[in-house]
Amino acid sequence: MADLRPRRSCLAVPGSSPRFLEKAKSLSSDQVFLDLEDACAPLAKPGARKNIVAALNEGGWGKRLRVVRVNDWTTHWTYRDVIEVVEGAGANLDCIMLPKVADAAQVQALDILLTQIEKTNGLEVGRIGIEAQIETAQGLINVNDIAFASPRIEAIIFGPADFMASINMKSLVVGALHPDYPGDPFHYILMQILMAARARGVHAIDGPFLQVRDVAAFEEVAKRSAMLGFDGKWVLHPGQIDAANQIYAPAQADYDHAELILDAYDHATSEAGGKKGSAMLGDEMIDEASAKMALVIAGKGRAAGLERTSSFSPSQS
Ligand code: GLV
Ligand code: MG
Repeated sequence: MADLRPRRSCLAVPGSSPRFLEKAKSLSSDQVFLDLEDACAPLAKPGARKNIVAALNEGGWGKRLRVVRVNDWTTHWTYRDVIEVVEGAGANLDCIMLPKVADAAQVQALDILLTQIEKTNGLEVGRIGIEAQIETAQGLINVNDIAFASPRIEAIIFGPADFMASINMKSLVVGALHPDYPGDPFHYILMQILMAARARGVHAIDGPFLQVRDVAAFEEVAKRSAMLGFDGKWVLHPGQIDAANQIYAPAQADYDHAELILDAYDHATSEAGGKKGSAMLGDEMIDEASAKMALVIAGKGRAAGLERTSSFSPSQS
């Protein structure tokens, strides 16, 4: 996972709107995904493919991950989505997002198609990654196989709106806590997705929150999956971007502390530090497991571009 670029905020952009495609280049999300699926009406899909190819080739996306969401394999649009977008703009595209993934075979079918397109268009084989959206009961029971279905997999994404429909969940606010339910109705689903993503070493991404004007509620929902270990969340509105970038990166103090633990543990285990397996850092006892936990936080902080504001000296241990 260390070499995956950050996905704290994944901005949904309808491919049918040249205006939104242009605007997305000026927003500070880690990822943009240009949508051919549910944000595009059926009659608008052919035109949206062309808009997306043009927008990708025009450039100006900076360091953002450039992703296109195609239609799912149960429709008749998928093959044309993939062929038109990857043949037209494969050199300027990072991943294809596949929605409503039901099983590993659907990921493998996309992998095979991508390989053929890459070969015939002089692209490096394997350069286009795959993001798999889990949004049905069937997808969730197969999520472990889906995560391991292709070396191209970079992220497993929760799609709460379709998922709630798939399991007949009785709630009105997509992805939110519900006053009639004492716990978190999504905990089990999020954990299944997280386990599959972590076992495979790829990103786990939380899905959309549709009350786009209520940033406080977005923050509440985002903190829930960030605390579990999720790497980012979809954003549907510019107002959600800063919140996601902040919530899915460690706080400065936690980042500083993690770097301190890594240095202190390095020192403790060294010849100079006495080759100790555990040591005290202030009032905290640290060992190999503390260093592993610290590495996760430090890794997320480094990926988010945080800088240390303190340094270690052996007298601290
Ligand atoms: C996203 O695609 C969702 O269904 O929530
Ligand atoms: Mg969906």
